[in-house]
Amino acid sequence: MSVQQLQARFDQEIAAAADLAALDGVRVAALGKSGEITQLLKSLGKMDADTRTAEAPKIHSLREAVTDAIAAKKAALEGAELERRLATERLDLSLPSAEAPRGSIHPVSQVMDELTEIFADLGFSVAEGPEIEDDWHNFSALNIPETHPARAMQDTFYMDEKGEDGAPMVLRTHTSPVQIRTMQKKQPPIRIIAPGRVYRSDSDATHTPMFHQIEGLVIDKAITLGHLKWTLETFLKAFFERDDVVLRMRPSYFPFTEPSAEVDVGWSMEKGRRVVGGSEGWMEVLGSGMVHPKVIAACGLDPDEWQGFAFGTGVDRLAMLKYGMDDLRAFFDGDLRWMKHYGFRFLDVPTLSGGVGA
Ligand code: PHE
Repeated sequence: MSVQQLQARFDQEIAAAADLAALDGVRVAALGKSGEITQLLKSLGKMDADTRTAEAPKIHSLREAVTDAIAAKKAALEGAELERRLATERLDLSLPSAEAPRGSIHPVSQVMDELTEIFADLGFSVAEGPEIEDDWHNFSALNIPETHPARAMQDTFYMDEKGEDGAPMVLRTHTSPVQIRTMQKKQPPIRIIAPGRVYRSDSDATHTPMFHQIEGLVIDKAITLGHLKWTLETFLKAFFERDDVVLRMRPSYFPFTEPSAEVDVGWSMEKGRRVVGGSEGWMEVLGSGMVHPKVIAACGLDPDEWQGFAFGTGVDRLAMLKYGMDDLRAFFDGDLRWMKHYGFRFLDVPTLSGGVGA
């Protein structure tokens, strides 16, 4: 077979190779140890000088041409293989996971996020304090005298260990000590909310020994009861996502506010259920008032210069009202069936633009 014929045959075989294995077969048959081209190269040694001079360049160029053709075909096959894999193994990262996420967000966490979002929009930042609190921050600085019934053993969990300087330590009974800690740390103007756990020795369908509150505090030079009412109205309308939320402020008493008001919201019956909105009846949702001058003074601020309002409410109770649960104890039982029913998807992030309700 002439060199040209060999070249034509190899070209054809290379072109016909459907995959890398077939192509390697052609390579071995042509260029392997006993391949045809290898044999031709070996035969050069046995030729006489003239024939060798004539044949050598043809055989060398055949080897080069076949080597190049195999390399080109190999690159093409590899490219096609990559294309095929890219097409079949494509992963659409925007699709939801095939395995549905198992966890869910607890209604208390969800409601806390909703409240934080609403108050952030009103310019409030989030403040925190310890859950194991000293008696001074939890009571005395809040103008709760030692004889006040709130200090009685049946309400407050006292720690066995004393704090620094022998101070009695308690599990905080409300988030109001965060008012004190904030005023001690920060110069007014102050606009904070303080969500967190609180503890009282109490247990029935609407009380658990641990529950959640959110505190609000605004301190500035000319803050009035009007600002308090507007803030609460704006917050409750945003939270319950209804414009017909009606507030009623009832004179009340808290040692740390003067005057003090309890705030009721109106409810009405909808499809046999009591919902917030309208004014068929009233239910209490929070405590509030103008911060008592003694409290401001206890924090080292001048009550003739600074004044403001505070409010506090139960986060769990807000969750129950908004999402229709009726037993508070179930919140903390850790029953997965309850969580599946009342829990929120991790993507239900409350935003003011998207709606704070899930
Ligand atoms: N700390 C009060 C409570 O736990 C609520 C409250 C907070 C009232 C702030 C007035 C002002 O009941």
